[in-house]
Amino acid sequence: MDRSALLDIELATLFQVSQILSSPSSLGETLDQVLQALHEHGELHRGMVSLVDPDSGALLVNAIHGRSTLSASEPIRYLPGEGVLGMVLERGEKVVLPRLADEPRFLDRLRLYDRELPLISVPIRAGPGQYSGVLAAQPPHCDQWLPERARFLEMVANLIARSVRLSWELERERRALTAERDSLRRVVRGNYGFDSVVGHSRPMQRVFEQVRQVAKWNTTVLIRGESGTGKELIASAIHYNSPRASGPFIKLNCAALPDNLLESELFGHEKGAFTGAFSQRKGRFEQAHNGTLFLDEIGDVSPVFQVKLLRVLQEGELERVGSSHTLRVDVRIIAATNRDLETEVEAGDFREDLYYRLNVMPIFMPSLRQRPEDVPDLARFLVEKIAKQQGRPLSVTDSAIRLLMRHDWPGNVRELENCLERGAIMSEGGVIDQDVIELSGLEQQGGMSAILHDQERMGLHDPDLDERERVIAALEQAGWVQAKAARLLGMTPRQIAYRIQTLNIKVRRL
Ligand SMILES: Nc1ncnc2c1ncn2[C@@H]1O[C@H](COP(=O)(O)OP(=O)(O)OP(=O)(O)O)[C@@H](O)[C@H]1O
Ligand SMILES: [Mg+2]
Repeated sequence: MDRSALLDIELATLFQVSQILSSPSSLGETLDQVLQALHEHGELHRGMVSLVDPDSGALLVNAIHGRSTLSASEPIRYLPGEGVLGMVLERGEKVVLPRLADEPRFLDRLRLYDRELPLISVPIRAGPGQYSGVLAAQPPHCDQWLPERARFLEMVANLIARSVRLSWELERERRALTAERDSLRRVVRGNYGFDSVVGHSRPMQRVFEQVRQVAKWNTTVLIRGESGTGKELIASAIHYNSPRASGPFIKLNCAALPDNLLESELFGHEKGAFTGAFSQRKGRFEQAHNGTLFLDEIGDVSPVFQVKLLRVLQEGELERVGSSHTLRVDVRIIAATNRDLETEVEAGDFREDLYYRLNVMPIFMPSLRQRPEDVPDLARFLVEKIAKQQGRPLSVTDSAIRLLMRHDWPGNVRELENCLERGAIMSEGGVIDQDVIELSGLEQQGGMSAILHDQERMGLHDPDLDERERVIAALEQAGWVQAKAARLLGMTPRQIAYRIQTLNIKVRRL
């Protein structure tokens, strides 16, 4: 062969290799194709690529031309410095052997090469002074062009190096992302799994048992209980302990929105479906596909909207507002309410069919006064939680806990949490003692009965008052301080805020 014929071969091969490297495929496929091109166009046979395994530092054979399969169960490996390939990697220099049989370091682990022919092995560079692997091949004869052939193989190795580097970078990114995702999932599980729900009392143990049972299935769950008893917390514990845990957990507070907004929130809307619908939007049902949808305060949904809900619960089908295209969703429903749904069904305010749809598996959250034995653990747990938020160590004394145990907690765990947070703010040294525990005045005199007593004294209990008048009366009594009025009515601040909105009470600003 003359020099110009050799250059023709090399140019044709380079063209092939560059085409292979610029088309998207996995690293393994790319290497196979490059070796194939070297064989078919470049007169370089029995090509082989081995790459350094980042975990062990050993050279693993990744691609061989001339043998159909690489046994994945027993990868062929060379340690640094071992054999001819190990030597190339260790020195970072090419090794050109005119006749393989003459080289005592040749190990012949692959049983691939012709021992009468030359072998060219070149390093694949990872960066300055760093090598990611070795490329080797056999030319069909030993002639004067051997140094030229070796130089050409080095060029190919340099081209391959970029693909290897890219693939490794991708792999590193993938591993980092996976690790981050897994650790985030652990955190989420820690925050929303069972660990974050405190309670050793019998009633709470029963709740845990029910959650454990129901989490496995797609059953609709209805969580009942007074405000602040942990309904939302239990809903997330069910989701994160269910087979849907890796799917989305979507929440919606049904009490917070008027019907038309509730509809577009839940079902989504098409662009231009109503004034203000500037773009198409997915509803919560769609967002919760393959996950769980938590419908909070379901007892507050209007009768008209109850019909719409019933359909999607029964059929799993819905249309976006302004669209006639029917969508199917696979969503597990968890609903919660602090209302007495049975009475509302009897009064005709809540549809009976929807009630039965939702009430497949009811879970009743016990109030805190039904389980005072949980107060010490809860208090310590909540103090830890507040300490994390405030970024400083906090503790609560035994005498403070004894005081807390005597309280009635009409606002349940949320009230306890707020009370401890106030205490934490008041204790500069970070030790919450009884002197900084401030239980709302009324209840301190004797819990619920004191509230009732006060309601009576102030005329809030007058049977002639309707709901709106009662709320207004309480607001008057409280000098229009909503939190105070809420206490008078035995409500949470959120509940009174909601009532003020729905009963269309104009709040007087002081
Ligand atoms: N058993 C519990 N262990 C630890 N924290 C709890 C527990 N129960 C409730 N909490 C905490 O108390 C607060 C109120 O809980 P959550 O919001 O789940 O109550 P809720 O029943 O949904 O109240 P509402 O009816 O007012 O919406 C949350 O901060 C929650 O983390
Ligand atoms: Mg809630």
